[in-house]
Amino acid sequence: MSALFDGMENRPFIPTEYVVRLARTPWERAGYHALRREVFCSEQQIFTQDDRDTIDEVAIPIIAACCMAGMADRVVGAVRIHEGEPGVWRGSRLAVHADHRKLGRIGGELIRMAVSTAHGLGAMQFLAQVQEQNVLFFRRLHWKSLGVITLHGLPHHDMEADLSRYPAHGLDQTWLLRPQPRNRQVA
Ligand SMILES: CC(C)(COP(=O)(O)OP(=O)(O)OC[C@H]1O[C@@H](n2cnc3c(N)ncnc32)[C@H](O)[C@@H]1OP(=O)(O)O)[C@@H](O)C(=O)NCCC(=O)NCCS
Repeated sequence: MSALFDGMENRPFIPTEYVVRLARTPWERAGYHALRREVFCSEQQIFTQDDRDTIDEVAIPIIAACCMAGMADRVVGAVRIHEGEPGVWRGSRLAVHADHRKLGRIGGELIRMAVSTAHGLGAMQFLAQVQEQNVLFFRRLHWKSLGVITLHGLPHHDMEADLSRYPAHGLDQTWLLRPQPRNRQVA
């Protein structure tokens, strides 16, 4: 087996490519909401039947989709951004399908797309309420904690992105991701 697939033997399916972009078409938006329900209702049980709220009326949805034969085929990653107050943007509902985590840097790239898109729309500050188990993940992506809060009965950190690490870009950005081999050295 090639080095590309080391440590991935038990995965049911390994796409060779993902696309990250704003969700525009009806199937992309339907997949975006289905994934959120799967992660936040079924898996984490933070919400019961649906996790939609009033922020969805104004938020910009962003997706990662896995590709089959070069075409986006299924939504496996999601995040949304919105301007909470002038110049202050927020990201929320970051989710990657369980079968696609720690594989193609989907979570990290969704965050990059979210913050850089907001930066391009004039964000002066970008914030998120981050579940405690993900704080280290965000710190590695140049976020800092502003303090601990309780949300939905669970510990979270209010966190802020270092905008200087997220160059502004336009709404038509599209990125292709390919699963990379993880060659870690143990010290
Ligand atoms: C958190 C989440 C979005 C991460 O997505 P992902 O696609 O697995 O993340 P990536 O592949 O981009 O991870 C990049 C790196 O961070 C690491 N990482 C991922 N999740 C991590 C975590 N919670 N803590 C520390 N490191 C983490 C990965 O191992 C990887 O490291 P490597 O480059 O050394 O291999 C995903 O686990 C998820 O959807 N969880 C359930 C929902 C959730 O918790 N949402 C966030 C609410 S704040």
